[in-house]
Amino acid sequence: MPEEGEITIRCILVIFGGTGDLAHRKIYPAIYNLYVSGKLPENFALVAVGRRDFNNEGFREAAAESIKHYSRENKGTPDDIVHVVSSFYYFQIDFTKGEGYGQLKEFLETLDSRYQTMGNRIFYLAVAPEFFETIVTHIAANGMTDQATGFKRVVIEKPFGRDLVTARKLNDVLMSAFSEDQIYRIDHYLGKEMLQNIMVIRFANTMFEPLWNNKYIDHIQITSSETAGVENRGGYYDNAGALRDMLQNHMLQLLMLTAMEPPVSLNTHSIRDEKVKVLKALSPLDKESVSTNVVRGQYGEGIINNRKVPGYRSENRIQPDSDTETFIALKVNIDNFRWAGVPFYLRTGKRLAEKCTKIVVQFLRLPAILYYKDYGNLDPNRLIIEIQPREGVKIKFNGKKPGSKDEIIPVEMDFCQNCEIGAVSPDAYERLLLDVMCGDSTLFTRWDEVEYAWQFVDNISEAWSAQKPAFPNYAAGTWGPPESDELIGRDGRNWVNY
Ligand SMILES: NC(=O)c1ccc[n+]([C@@H]2O[C@H](COP(=O)([O-])OP(=O)(O)OC[C@H]3O[C@@H](n4cnc5c(N)ncnc54)[C@H](OP(=O)(O)O)[C@@H]3O)[C@@H](O)[C@H]2O)c1
Repeated sequence: MPEEGEITIRCILVIFGGTGDLAHRKIYPAIYNLYVSGKLPENFALVAVGRRDFNNEGFREAAAESIKHYSRENKGTPDDIVHVVSSFYYFQIDFTKGEGYGQLKEFLETLDSRYQTMGNRIFYLAVAPEFFETIVTHIAANGMTDQATGFKRVVIEKPFGRDLVTARKLNDVLMSAFSEDQIYRIDHYLGKEMLQNIMVIRFANTMFEPLWNNKYIDHIQITSSETAGVENRGGYYDNAGALRDMLQNHMLQLLMLTAMEPPVSLNTHSIRDEKVKVLKALSPLDKESVSTNVVRGQYGEGIINNRKVPGYRSENRIQPDSDTETFIALKVNIDNFRWAGVPFYLRTGKRLAEKCTKIVVQFLRLPAILYYKDYGNLDPNRLIIEIQPREGVKIKFNGKKPGSKDEIIPVEMDFCQNCEIGAVSPDAYERLLLDVMCGDSTLFTRWDEVEYAWQFVDNISEAWSAQKPAFPNYAAGTWGPPESDELIGRDGRNWVNY
């Protein structure tokens, strides 16, 4: 990872799908913020590849508008925006037709001379998955993946397949043109500040690391909840659902970082090796255990922020009889020495009561002597790692109520890293784009992580396919279906919703 102010590597960033939503909302603002914070290489150009009719000027105006609209708070000026987009170019092509790619190659070579980028290229596939294969095949067939003249890297957006079979097929196509170390599979959660902080909290603190196991931890819960519905992504979401859209990637990444063993070093391979071991140790789910340990849900109409919102089946571009799940909760076990006997409860969903992503580590109670004996059930100790929108760490413990003789009350220590005005964390895409430029793939998913994650998730979707769900089963604005509370309640525990 480059340090603040470090000069990164000269390159041309080629965005396939450069007129799309992701490029405008995330990539161009991220490039701009990298520039403003002095991290964008001087020798840098960006080529947006799209289908619609634009010239460079028209495209730069559109990109500048997106930067103004979506960029996080920063120190930049209008002149900075003009400067950044002056190295943006537009190249019109129909991905499905082979002829444009040869011209694209020549165009990139022209820019190489102008920007002295030495043949270094990053191909970013910000396109629908059905185009991944055709684009990769065409860029390889036109000699654009040859590393004899500069590095060639490919960035691929989620979803990486829709099950193990399709993911393998996609991976084969990628591997026919690139090697694993040239492939950057994005899971943008990994670019979030607090996700990177999980390892630091765990492995840089004597007061947490020795307790991080089944001797001291009762259970761990991981929640990623949204109040938003499907918004303008109905077509995609109705084919994916919470299982594929959230659990297969983001939720399992959170689980891996929370449960992994300490890596022998902070290099890419060591970290990824430890992460993937968590997936290998996951207790596999069969049909029976899916029915007891996994809950799915779909929202009906309800109230969010005092506003009535429609049910999922009435949303834009959703089938009126859709059985797609917008919520999933599950209990998983990790069969290794550290975690045997410690359940992990995961849940994620749309149109829930609150927007938050957090990890709750609940510690075991002390022996029932002294205070436990006299004061009944004291609150358990909890460590809460807040990922978003609030970024921070809370520690909940018991203390004596001031002024009382011996009354015990729960108290809290609270560290919030983005509560100060102006304390804006970099967007995940800034960090991830910078890492691709520098050739650091630590925060991207390796193929075996993807493969094991699909294996686990496919067991759930197979079990689900045998039974039609009774949807909708939760009202928008609640914490999901009652079965989710029952899932954790059966074990004498409850979700932590604050
Ligand atoms: N949007 C997000 O927030 C988000 C988040 C996570 C992951 N993703 C993933 O990112 C990828 C892109 O998503 P998106 O929301 O940006 O999609 P989008 O807004 O629909 O953009 C699609 C892009 O593909 C281009 N395109 C489509 N067919 C083409 C063709 N035959 N030839 C040339 N260009 C063609 C479009 O060009 P024209 O507009 O010029 O036709 C446009 O630039 C998807 O894989 C998605 O799953 C998106």
